[in-house]
Amino acid sequence: MLSGIQPTGKLHLGNLIGALENWVGMQDKYECFFFIADLHALTTLYDDTSGFKSNVREVAADLIASGLDTDRCTVFLQSDIPEHSELHLMLSMITPVPWLERVPTYKSKIDELKEKDLGTYGFLGYPVLQAADILIYKADMVPVGQDQLPHLELTREIARRFNFLYREIFPVPKEVMTEVPVLPGIDGRKMSKSYGNTIAITDTPEVIQKKVKDMVTDPARVKKSDKGHPEVCVAYAYHRIFNKGGVDEVSKKCRAAEIGCVECKKNLAKILTEYLAPIRSRRDGLDRNPSRIDEVLSRGADRARKIASETLNEAKSAMGLK
Ligand code: TRP
Ligand code: SF4
Repeated sequence: MLSGIQPTGKLHLGNLIGALENWVGMQDKYECFFFIADLHALTTLYDDTSGFKSNVREVAADLIASGLDTDRCTVFLQSDIPEHSELHLMLSMITPVPWLERVPTYKSKIDELKEKDLGTYGFLGYPVLQAADILIYKADMVPVGQDQLPHLELTREIARRFNFLYREIFPVPKEVMTEVPVLPGIDGRKMSKSYGNTIAITDTPEVIQKKVKDMVTDPARVKKSDKGHPEVCVAYAYHRIFNKGGVDEVSKKCRAAEIGCVECKKNLAKILTEYLAPIRSRRDGLDRNPSRIDEVLSRGADRARKIASETLNEAKSAMGLK
């Protein structure tokens, strides 16, 4: 099993619920590889790489703090394994350009990041690099969110084309969909770094309290005596995920105007703080001992490289390069 995450900065609650908790739960069930996709981040951040190094370390520390245990899974940095890039180049020889132009994320991302020139060769090839990431470990399963499905589909097409043109080398991978409710950002839009509406998994209790206080609630509830509609409230969406035992009571009291938003949010801030406490404490430990991060990544790279170089040799000889 393999999955990757781009190093765009601190990880947030959306990453935790949508991906990380799922990864943590898989590490005893499967042989798992998790990596930080720094080369993928270059496809959109190529014009300013000043924050790259610190983002990579931040994400590595957050992954470990979230519970990835490097005795039970392999955690590494994509660019530490040059075999990804080499297979990417080889796969690019057999990937028709229209396949790439047809990937829905290609046009939508260009529209989303209008201010950026994404008319680059590297950005068009983003899914080919992702295919190389997956195929170089012969992964059978790839846990991803909904938005990544077209990339998985393309990976399968590239694998089949390679197997057909040369010889059967690559298993055709399947996605593992995470069935999780989408966690809104504090303003009610999708939680995203670019909107500045996230709660980081390492936010301090004070910051959490402030952000919860800013969450958008039922706009029809002006006074405490107004009856609320929890289904439109961001704080309530969080109660549903992080306060499973108490959510029914929150809903009842909100609808009956028996609890005010101030109190309801105070409770939520406390619940989130407690939920994140073990992560924060592991993260504090890592910050006191930063060389641990280098050790983890270097051990992970050693393990990953072994498999990646074997597959690359096989693929090269199949292609007639060896
Ligand atoms: N494209 C993925 C994302 O943005 C990250 C990623 C890169 C990935 N390579 C991968 C995910 C390989 C799964 C497998 O979320
Ligand atoms: Fe939201 Fe709680 Fe206020 Fe109801 S009481 S609107 S659930 S914050």
